[in-house]
Amino acid sequence: MSQKVRKAVFPVGGLGTRFLPATKAMPKEMLPVVDKPLIQYAVEEAREAGIEEFIFVTGRGKTIIEDHFDRSYELESVLNERSKEGLLAELHASVADAGTVAYIRQQEALGLGHAVWCAKRLVGNEPFAVILADDLILADTPCLAQMTAAREKAGGGNMLAVMEVPNAHTSRYGILSPGKEDGNLVEILGLVEKPEPAKAPSNLAVIGRYILEPKVFDILENQSRGAGNEIQLTDALSSLLGHDPFFGMKFDGTRFDCGDKIGFLEANIAFALNREDMRDDVKNFISKFARDF
Ligand code: G1P
Repeated sequence: MSQKVRKAVFPVGGLGTRFLPATKAMPKEMLPVVDKPLIQYAVEEAREAGIEEFIFVTGRGKTIIEDHFDRSYELESVLNERSKEGLLAELHASVADAGTVAYIRQQEALGLGHAVWCAKRLVGNEPFAVILADDLILADTPCLAQMTAAREKAGGGNMLAVMEVPNAHTSRYGILSPGKEDGNLVEILGLVEKPEPAKAPSNLAVIGRYILEPKVFDILENQSRGAGNEIQLTDALSSLLGHDPFFGMKFDGTRFDCGDKIGFLEANIAFALNREDMRDDVKNFISKFARDF
């Protein structure tokens, strides 16, 4: 039987330059899709996959994320006085249970691989998930829960969420060299970070959900810089291939790249359309604006 995935790492140290000026003083992970910050979607997805411990790898200017998952007594007392039970319940949903959240700083933005390595001592010697909040996934069963179920069935190992992307976009992603397919699982023969389309081994891209065995920390420890002069998680995973079981999982759901302005707008529209309380109004104004512009 595979060991249960109990811990998730959320790398939130990035600068968010693609979203300036919005992210000058506010972390990109706090950008709301409809009415909830990206990072809360990520935490809720982890919780629904049975994650019990939440490890944030933060950086300067990110303390507001800690406040977000803390209690807000002032707000609570005002909402109590006004008998706003619905809002109080929503507020409670964002509060982490005592002792389940840890924050650790990545002092320098040296890349995703380095950010994950920073969580090494907090993760210890057990499998763990990594969630990139920029990748928001609308799905009936949350993506990470799909992955933990598939991994359990496969008997453990490393598992990465994957999807096909346009050939012209391979230089934005970790791209795999696929082997045999079994249902929605793809054997991974090779991994390369952000290849140009002409050099990409396929158009199957890694999306920001990973379940990893702790062995990756030993590789990350000595990982040299790769694409973009950063320490890349993809490079470390690539050197583990052939030693450990490694699967790509084609998940069910729609993924939005919320690190990109268009992707972020699409996510807002899709998540609003997905809500009964907003659907009709949103449909109406979209058709109105589409006509007027
Ligand atoms: C990171 C990873 C990349 C992956 C992508 C998914 O890139 O390095 O392999 O495909 O996330 O969103 P980033 O978007 O941080 O540049």
